[in-house]
Amino acid sequence: MKTLTKAAAALTGSLDVPGDKSISHRAVMLSALGTGTTRVHNFLQGADCISTIECFRALGVHIEAGRKRGEIAVTGRGLRGLLPSSDPQELYTGNSGTTTRILCGILSPQPFTTILSGDESINRRPMRRVIEPLSLMGADITSLRHSGCAPLRISGAPLHGITWRSPVASAQVKSALLCAGLYADSPTTIIEPALSRDHTERMLSSMGASVETKREADGFHITIAPADRLKAEAEITVPGDISSAAYFIVAALLVPGSELLLRGAGINPTRSGILTALRAMGGDITQLNERESGGEPVCDLLIRHSPLHGCDIGGDMIPTLIDEIPILAVAAACAEGTTVIRDAAELRVKETDRITAVAEALQAMGCRVHAEADKMVIEGRADRPLRGAAISCRNDHRIAMSFAVAALTAEGETVLDNEHCVAISYPDFFKDLESLIQHR
Ligand code: S3P
Repeated sequence: MKTLTKAAAALTGSLDVPGDKSISHRAVMLSALGTGTTRVHNFLQGADCISTIECFRALGVHIEAGRKRGEIAVTGRGLRGLLPSSDPQELYTGNSGTTTRILCGILSPQPFTTILSGDESINRRPMRRVIEPLSLMGADITSLRHSGCAPLRISGAPLHGITWRSPVASAQVKSALLCAGLYADSPTTIIEPALSRDHTERMLSSMGASVETKREADGFHITIAPADRLKAEAEITVPGDISSAAYFIVAALLVPGSELLLRGAGINPTRSGILTALRAMGGDITQLNERESGGEPVCDLLIRHSPLHGCDIGGDMIPTLIDEIPILAVAAACAEGTTVIRDAAELRVKETDRITAVAEALQAMGCRVHAEADKMVIEGRADRPLRGAAISCRNDHRIAMSFAVAALTAEGETVLDNEHCVAISYPDFFKDLESLIQHR
């Protein structure tokens, strides 16, 4: 339990944004399949990425911690060198959807059987979205409880290239199929309705794989050719996670007098929808010192307190800010006027049902929210602050961090029931937040 109160003063100063969760996962997974050793810098030491490390260690990959925090060295076993995990032949993916789904693609062509399982939340999340296309490629995957969820038994089988039209824009599904496609007997194409985060494509290309993305009338076509080997990158510096930066961006926009510099934030266009949305709401956000890191665009973000107004978002923009919708909803509750967030049904199948979680928490804080299957309508009141409340984080890191920020603007005390879940993606979140609040 953690009790938070209104920020006594502005948020000022600067912060190095911790490593990107999606890119940290991929740095381990793809380096593990490469030939050579990769030094990864600014690796995110969150629980989800540690789950990925542990799974790949169990598959025989040598992963060593470096001398500096956030430094690891991964010695790849090549595309065909993974080993079956020993007793009890089960890989545990914890709370991590990215680990679970991408591993389905990597394990499908391996010459052994693996049982993949995670925590209670993972074992409730939909896996048919990867089982179905991988099975069409020839994979042998069984949902052991016949629920379409983990635990999954994956028995290696030869794979064929397919063309798969994914009903959802999901980078986890796309990445699972791209990894499986490396082992197929012909090219594999995934058609996405909107372009989801493209970190896998970028990293695979720089490791020598042939991956092509084309925009067609019916969506984005991403094609991968089979490969014999992936050349490990010598060094990868993981950019800062825009999803983690988002909490401080919103906090600084909302708390009067704030001015923050967030260094090294990733601004890949498939991830930076939160900046577009907050600017459309009137947020003063400046990009400084634009550069590249780990094959990804990054910059420093200068954020100044700004009065916000409501906005309307949906369609192709949703995948570019899918993980930021809880914190965007907090911004909307403190903005003047109504914000509508549509086409967001995917939020129902995240770590928790984030539409219900956000709507109930904002309502508890006195905001009027109307929730539908794929939509939230938030009636923002800039003239009346939120009021502190007891918030159920539902063991979801993004709900906990979003409502820690809401608490900074609210009258009275806010109590989070389990703040420890922030460790999934941002173990130092509260320490970093505290360091930016200038107590007088
Ligand atoms: C992720 C993809 C997204 C995102 C998740 C991380 C990834 O999920 O919500 O936090 O690293 O590929 P979906 O693929 O389900 O959209």
